[in-house]
Amino acid sequence: MTERYFAPCPRGLEAVLAAELARIGAGDVAPADGGVGFAGDLALAWRANLESRIASRILWRVGGGACRDEHALYALVKAIDWKRHFAPSRTLRVDVAATRSPLPSLEFATLRVKDAVCDRLRDDTGTRPSVDKRAPDVRVAAYLTERDATIYVDTSGEPLFKRGWRRDAEEAPLRENLAAGLIALTGWAPGTPFLDPMCGSGTIAIEAALIAAGRAPGLARTFGFQKLAWFDGPAWQRMKQAARDREHAAPSAPAIFASDAAGGAVGKTLANLRAAKLDGFVAVEQADFLARSAPAAHGVLLANPPYGVRLADRDELARLYPLVGDALKQRFAGWTAYFFTGDLRLPKLIHLKVARKTPLFNGALECRLFEFPIVAGRHAPGA
Ligand SMILES: C[S@@+](CC[C@H](N)C(=O)[O-])C[C@H]1O[C@@H](n2cnc3c(N)ncnc32)[C@H](O)[C@@H]1O
Repeated sequence: MTERYFAPCPRGLEAVLAAELARIGAGDVAPADGGVGFAGDLALAWRANLESRIASRILWRVGGGACRDEHALYALVKAIDWKRHFAPSRTLRVDVAATRSPLPSLEFATLRVKDAVCDRLRDDTGTRPSVDKRAPDVRVAAYLTERDATIYVDTSGEPLFKRGWRRDAEEAPLRENLAAGLIALTGWAPGTPFLDPMCGSGTIAIEAALIAAGRAPGLARTFGFQKLAWFDGPAWQRMKQAARDREHAAPSAPAIFASDAAGGAVGKTLANLRAAKLDGFVAVEQADFLARSAPAAHGVLLANPPYGVRLADRDELARLYPLVGDALKQRFAGWTAYFFTGDLRLPKLIHLKVARKTPLFNGALECRLFEFPIVAGRHAPGA
């Protein structure tokens, strides 16, 4: 049986997510704005939840059609055979999102979707499910456009960037799926040295370590689909065991390196690596990037430098960037450096020639991934 799915992701990562889903076995892969549509059987939804590093969720399309008002929305949702998807003893949460919807209130639309699900289940089974907004068993999502509504069952539950290992976070940790998407955009593959010299709580280095370990990112957590009617526990256990059997042991000398100027950040990276059981995959040290040496003759450097909103912080960053550029030129010839930031002044102030800039969104914040090939003895004009 072919089902249709939609995997939302941070905007800018659609192409790398589409390639990842195709590798996982998805058919009809169709990148759209903010996510990727795909098709496959029900087991593909479990596999995508377990294996996707870049998706935010895996939504299962269970209905949809023309919809211009609340009556049409209610009828459309009530026409779905909800008992096929989950039992009325499960608690429910409904979320509605829209682009240019003709419906005046999203809150009211959410209420109508919830009523239609509950009314249909009561008609068919005699019981209405109750709502739990904080920790629901089942999440139903509706997406409205000017003309249509699409109704989804969320197979993920908690968003997929929650891998289940994070113990402690720096001030502004990247979401894990955004970090994994940035790594995919650099084209890095295990075997090539990798460095995050401003590692904060270690998110980027830990995502690289998961890849190097061949670890399925969802092995340490549970998913929404485990509470759905068609969940097959033994088949799921077999899928997870097959993923565990694929894992590699840590190498004798790690090729992934992480450092930060702040001792607290280094402590958090070490604690998170331990919690993720990836200790042996990353060499961690406390170091100021402006003074540290390259850990190998070539490699991929990926960092998410501090991002200042206050004027004083922005001034401090404007002083930092040229020094970062100098450090790269002096000690990182042969490397390709990538910086992910919302500060669009970086390429001008770092005094290096930018080879590629990829627009991305970190939540609502517009960002770029800037790529700088570091070539010995070649400086950008004016640098
Ligand atoms: C935005 S945070 C990185 C967050 C990280 N990506 C995460 O997910 O947790 C920026 C980090 O850069 C570090 N940093 C700032 N200046 C530095 C320097 N000169 N050398 C090394 N680290 C620096 C800060 O200590 C901070 O941890």
